[in-house]
Amino acid sequence: MLILDGKLVAAAVKETLKAETDILLKNGKRAPQLAAILVGSNGASETYVASKVKNCEEIGFTSLLVRFDETIDEASVLQKIAELNADDSVDGILVQLPLPKQISEQKVIEAIDPRKDVDGFHPSSAGKLVQGLPSFIPATPYGIMMMLEFFKLETKGKHAVVIGRSNIVGRPMSILLSSNIPYGNCTVTICHSHTPNLKEICLQADILVAALGRPEFVKADMVKSGAIVIDVGITRVADETAKKGFRIKGDVDYNEVAPKTSAITPVPGGVGLMTIAGLLKNTLQAYKTNTGI
Ligand code: GUN
Repeated sequence: MLILDGKLVAAAVKETLKAETDILLKNGKRAPQLAAILVGSNGASETYVASKVKNCEEIGFTSLLVRFDETIDEASVLQKIAELNADDSVDGILVQLPLPKQISEQKVIEAIDPRKDVDGFHPSSAGKLVQGLPSFIPATPYGIMMMLEFFKLETKGKHAVVIGRSNIVGRPMSILLSSNIPYGNCTVTICHSHTPNLKEICLQADILVAALGRPEFVKADMVKSGAIVIDVGITRVADETAKKGFRIKGDVDYNEVAPKTSAITPVPGGVGLMTIAGLLKNTLQAYKTNTGI
């Protein structure tokens, strides 16, 4: 059984991005810049955004963190996005989700200039992805594709089962795996909360992607022997014995599932780290496209 180590793959991706950035800087160009908007102080969102900013610094990108109070109105967030859209020094814009209920996530996503949509959530990016046109790929599915490529896990002709149909992970993942691209060409089944025979379908999966956000949902009796299992879950589960008062749990019961698989991503240390790699790649892509460099 191969452990798909996200740390290893993310480090390799970041090394390549850093080398490209070093060349840009040596040639007197400005660094790629990511702007992140964080509303409120949700613990997980704070952690993710801090990590995104830190990773930018590590590879020589600059970043701009815009923070708003939990009670901010929608118009103020939209106004800030308009400013960042117009700012030529900003290559990529992300608004960390979820947002407080007074703010429409859809309006916010659609307000971002598609040329700076490094999360790949804008309907324009999603539509291009569906049609097989060049676009920003949402960071988590992008990171998973990089992982498949790094470990040379052949996917062509395999049956991939994706649990979850979110716009952030499940849906774009299913499109990528079924696309006629390297590490695509799977036959894909998408399962969701209304799938009655989930266990039977999962048992048919050569590649199982769990992206439903329910800790340790996938058990050993749902996994075919020798399957590749990709665990996208990162739920904080209260645990008084842990230093922070919680532990991060994946959507897969790793201890019982791992021995049955041919390859599996751990949580933490798997897909989560790849999400940032995907975001950084998209940011450099935005920089190149928007500056013409
Ligand atoms: N919330 C959970 N995942 C993501 C992500 O990839 N991007 C943003 N902006 N928010 C998220």
